[in-house]
Amino acid sequence: MSYFSLGIILVSSFSGIAVAGESSLHLHGVGYGPEMDEVRLIDRGDGTGPKMMKLKDAFQYSKMAHEAGRCGGFMDLTGQPELNGPPPVEVESFKLNLEDRALTQGAYLESSLALLDASRVSDTVKQLSSNRNRYYRSSYGVQAAHWIAGQFRELSRNRTDVKVELFSHSFEQPSVIASIAGQGPHQNEIVVIGGHEDSINQSAFGSREMLAPGADDNASGVGTVLEIFRVLIQSGFKPDRTLMFMTYAGEEVGLLGSQDIANRFRNEGKSVVAVMQIDMTSFPGSGNQVVFITDNVSTELTRFSQKLMDVYVKVRWGTDRCGYACSDHASWNRAGYSAVMPFEATMSAYNRDIHTTRDLIGKLDFNHGLAFLRLGLAFMSELSMN
Ligand code: BES
Ligand code: ZN
Repeated sequence: MSYFSLGIILVSSFSGIAVAGESSLHLHGVGYGPEMDEVRLIDRGDGTGPKMMKLKDAFQYSKMAHEAGRCGGFMDLTGQPELNGPPPVEVESFKLNLEDRALTQGAYLESSLALLDASRVSDTVKQLSSNRNRYYRSSYGVQAAHWIAGQFRELSRNRTDVKVELFSHSFEQPSVIASIAGQGPHQNEIVVIGGHEDSINQSAFGSREMLAPGADDNASGVGTVLEIFRVLIQSGFKPDRTLMFMTYAGEEVGLLGSQDIANRFRNEGKSVVAVMQIDMTSFPGSGNQVVFITDNVSTELTRFSQKLMDVYVKVRWGTDRCGYACSDHASWNRAGYSAVMPFEATMSAYNRDIHTTRDLIGKLDFNHGLAFLRLGLAFMSELSMN
């Protein structure tokens, strides 16, 4: 899917946009990073199962799949083969009965939805996309994670029920997890909203200095998660369940950060009852609508979220398939948890400038992104109460 960008990069080199690495389509081009030669366990999502291969070959496969007219994302499963088994009982037993679940937060949402401010998402996108990149192995990527953690801390100053943590991985960039502690008998159950913090320029394989603004993909998602957090804090919301706000590292190279987190949570028997993935919210490619991804997700949680759309968001919605593990919801889904992914547009109309130097703020419409703020706030408040 993302590798679609490779076609566009050719065009940009002909049109004379000169950026280091941009014109090289070769894996051994400018800034080729050593991680590209690492042998990793890669699942290409084509039904043939995980295989050992070099990271550069996984990228090469994606590029070829795209040229053949197919999407070609992959999941890097290195270090996580235990996830091939069924989920442990503890995880299964905490599924909510979403079918019959009544909506109870109408009064809270009536006042708090009005507090959501799309211009704050724009501010976050401006800030994050003005850095060179947020690549999972670059110092810029590490700095971005620390900046996000700082935002969570600043928004929750003086709150003793809030905790902001960095989650370390086997590569430089940490993920960020902010939690609002639940109160009472359901405090060990967890509701998650998250999106990836890293960015990539698919034509500058592995370069630490690549230009990858990643405004839509996925500074827009990070801004959305931060703004929902801000409103829950500012409105003094005290959840029964524990609410977690996550920005994942290393998504663009095979869902690495979210797999580490989902896997650790599963191994620790953590009862995550629902996960919403926010990845690309602000390019209105197919008009005024939210598109629910239907593969690698929970159908029950998706149906529940569609109900939230009808009741609280009142924006048109549709459905489409990614066709492969296209974002972090797939990591949670694979670990046995219920996940949902609302997306900015249909697969034929999403922002084609992602993973290039042109994924810039100027292309975005934060009014389109407002639907995701509303949906996310409704999701976190409704699912956090018993
Ligand atoms: N934001 C994209 C996912 C996406 C793109 C979903 C377009 C739907 C339409 C994500 O960051 C991404 O690029 N994912 C990779 C797969 C990843 C596992 C390497 C992709 O789509 O190729
Ligand atoms: Zn993305």
